[in-house]
Amino acid sequence: MDKKHYKVETWGCQMNVHESEKIAGIAQSLGYVPTDDEKEADLIILNTCCVREHAEAKVYGRLGRLKSLKRKNPDLIIGIGGCMTQQKDEAQHIAKRYPYVDFIFGTHNLHKLSEMIANAKGAGSTIVDIQEDGYGKIVEGLPVERDDRVKAWVSIMQGCNNFCTYCIVPYVRGRERSRSREEIIKEVRGLAVQGYKEVTLLGQNVNSYGKDLEKPVDFSALLRELNEVEGIERLRFTTSHPKDLSEDLIFAVKDCEKVCEHIHLPFQAGSTEILRRMNRKYTKEQYLALAGRIKKEIPGVSITTDIMVGFPGETEDDFEDTLDVVRKVRFDAAFTFLYSPRRGTPAAKMKDQVPYGIKHPRFLRLLDLTQKISAEENAKMKGKTVELLVEGVSKNDPARLTGRTRTNKLVHFTGDANLIGKLINVKVTEPRNWSLYGEIVRN
Ligand code: SAH
Ligand code: SF4
Ligand code: F3S
Repeated sequence: MDKKHYKVETWGCQMNVHESEKIAGIAQSLGYVPTDDEKEADLIILNTCCVREHAEAKVYGRLGRLKSLKRKNPDLIIGIGGCMTQQKDEAQHIAKRYPYVDFIFGTHNLHKLSEMIANAKGAGSTIVDIQEDGYGKIVEGLPVERDDRVKAWVSIMQGCNNFCTYCIVPYVRGRERSRSREEIIKEVRGLAVQGYKEVTLLGQNVNSYGKDLEKPVDFSALLRELNEVEGIERLRFTTSHPKDLSEDLIFAVKDCEKVCEHIHLPFQAGSTEILRRMNRKYTKEQYLALAGRIKKEIPGVSITTDIMVGFPGETEDDFEDTLDVVRKVRFDAAFTFLYSPRRGTPAAKMKDQVPYGIKHPRFLRLLDLTQKISAEENAKMKGKTVELLVEGVSKNDPARLTGRTRTNKLVHFTGDANLIGKLINVKVTEPRNWSLYGEIVRN
């Protein structure tokens, strides 16, 4: 009999990208093989995000289009999971409006996915299995089918306790729960044995890793231990919350030769009053001081960030503070977002929502500035020789390879495919806004 095929579609952050690798692992353990062709698929699973309205709208659009696919192939099994389904009453809403969905799961019960897939056929109605309690233990040992052979994601914690007033994540991901130090080290060692060269540690707020463990472990101590794992060449982590980024961490990044000089440090807004209303627990001055400290201690560090425009009550002066932080820190890259009210969050109920007509032009001004600065920072790289980990063939140009610098900049160059997975030196010949072009330096 022909093999059955599955397709996983992913929205959202790296955490979701990694969890889709677990969904793929589970599908494969049931005998399914991957396909990119939806017409060939016997099982389609959507792994969703709800951090902004736009993310959700895309998932609804996709759900709508799946109807005709199911009509053509009534045996197709459709499942939906991830952050979106974990919102209050959302699963019931999906089951009602999209009855051709076979099963709905949440962020806390991936370990039951295999059972759900097996039961989906012949159930006759949508199976809904959402665990509301966000305190559940992390389940270890799920199969993982990784997308890449050079770089790997390792989740070190789940959930978030920060409750920034705009953010849905704490509601859909539950409270902070750290994996044990031993499990993480075991996983990273296993990856080294399989030939992986780079590991990115994932958590909503990695700086508070280990605080909830029976025997608390500091994140910087974890980094120092992982730095010893033989075979792994590079370690990265994301995301850092400015309020929890310790001196110890700065020194761990500085001291550990495998930990890359790149810190993603979202600041969200420049105005201290807006930061207070966001419940971010730092001021503009504290953020600037922290960024300055990082730059001073870690030579050549790159700092990237997330910025939000149009949080309720944001005035022109508040927005100027945001631009001021961008000018002062000069981020290597910035992800900019328009504030999007999220159901059930305190900010969504704030009276002074900023109209689109005001926040959108601000967003464009911010984008202009961040892009100009990133381009200027990239231009400084011209003529420099940098170490690259070669990741694979360039997506836009099959004649080229791409790799990343330790500072996480993408570099395209011409070279032989047997360099994939290797560390090489490249001289930057042509910096562009989003990436760099270079040529191999022969030793
Ligand atoms: N845990 C990470 C961020 C996760 S969400 C952190 O705290 O840094 C990724 C980014 O999405 C956030 O940094 C924020 O800039 C943006 N974001 C979150 N909620 C949002 C909302 N309601 N509207 C617009 N952007 C939002
Ligand atoms: Fe959301 Fe704030 Fe937690 Fe980040 S730290 S996930 S922005 S609540
Ligand atoms: Fe989205 Fe969930 Fe990540 S809401 S940003 S996929 S934690």
